[in-house]
Amino acid sequence: MESSNNLFTFHRGHILQFVVSDLYHIWAVAVREYDQRRGASLWGEAEIAAAGSVLRAGTMFRYADREGPGRVQELERLIVARAGGGHALATSSGTAALVCALVGLGVGPGQEVIVPAVTFLACVNAVAAVGAVPVFAEVDDSLTLDPASLDALVGPRTRAVMAVHLGNVAADLDPILEFAGRHGLRVLEDAAQAVGVTYRGVAVGAIGDAGIYSFNDEKNVATGEGGALLTADPGVHARALAYHDQGGQFSIFKGNVREHDATEPFLGQNFRMTEMAAAIAMVQFERLDAMLARLRGAARLVRASAGSGVQWRRIPDPEGEGGDLTMLLPSRRAALLRVRALRAHGIPGTLVYGGAPVYANAAVRAGRTAWGMAWSEPARCPRSERLVGGAVSVPLGASLSEDDVEALARGVADAIRDA
Ligand SMILES: Cc1ncc(COP(=O)(O)O)c(C=O)c1O
Repeated sequence: MESSNNLFTFHRGHILQFVVSDLYHIWAVAVREYDQRRGASLWGEAEIAAAGSVLRAGTMFRYADREGPGRVQELERLIVARAGGGHALATSSGTAALVCALVGLGVGPGQEVIVPAVTFLACVNAVAAVGAVPVFAEVDDSLTLDPASLDALVGPRTRAVMAVHLGNVAADLDPILEFAGRHGLRVLEDAAQAVGVTYRGVAVGAIGDAGIYSFNDEKNVATGEGGALLTADPGVHARALAYHDQGGQFSIFKGNVREHDATEPFLGQNFRMTEMAAAIAMVQFERLDAMLARLRGAARLVRASAGSGVQWRRIPDPEGEGGDLTMLLPSRRAALLRVRALRAHGIPGTLVYGGAPVYANAAVRAGRTAWGMAWSEPARCPRSERLVGGAVSVPLGASLSEDDVEALARGVADAIRDA
């Protein structure tokens, strides 16, 4: 009860601060918005042709009778080739891929999954969807899982740890894998925001027991909606494949005829990807490495121009990042002043996730699922609250020209001098 009041105070305080500070500081200044999207800002004739060819083929269904592989299957092969092996499963969204991955890994009701306190809501939603319980871990100055905080969270029900590669920066996977190995836990990489990013030279998503990508409009590879799961474990893949297709209705069984499967059937969902999404994704994957190299270069230029008076978020493996510009300020107030200064220079800086951890969400806090209360109020992560409260992000976009990036660099440097 007492901790519940604490959280209520936290949120009431948060909202009050929002009204008196954010409105004044942020919306007092008009900003020229630019295209902040990644893959979607590069959509062109090749994507249009790919989409047209699917329409001409007359079906968008991945399991339609056809000669040779469909586009979804080709996309899965492409993802496997980029990862250097394993099995891929294309899905209807990144969230669907997360749910399939948890099912594949055998995470179920009553079990616990360690999730970083700073992440997108989908991570918690996926855990709740399989009946499991999220346990929130601190992030460090990389805004990804703090490996040092993990041991204390392990209990008899802990089954997996979800490492989220936030904003095109890979989490520091080596110590996380070491931790998981020590406790017999599975590692699920959420690379929704980091498709194409590498960690120590290997594609993120392909390093843990399973990994997922998102292809929604904001992401590096954009197909409107879409996602994928990647795993080296054929058992994880088989379970996920069945689950994503009504328990294997088309992928494993056709009607009632059992074609091939070593496991007993179980019920599932429809999380299948369309041929249209896959065709567009394959074109977008061709653009991916060049786009990330440009964004990485742009981020380096902006950071270098800003000088030494700014604390950028730590990037565990700078070689593989995909272009991130997140500064860490000592307080929420300092962060708001920085946002205001950026906006005064025409740059749409924002507080990362509104300056709040994922458990600031009312449903997460209450553990309220569609079927009732699934967990009691989670323990808070004070360091993560402080870090995310002071985290200010400057968006980059894949269609920014070199002149745009130079102007951005000058604006950021000027804003940092101002606040
Ligand atoms: C960290 C993270 N995980 C999962 C997802 C879910 O992806 P989707 O929107 O494709 O369901 C997102 C989407 O923004 C995300 O940012």
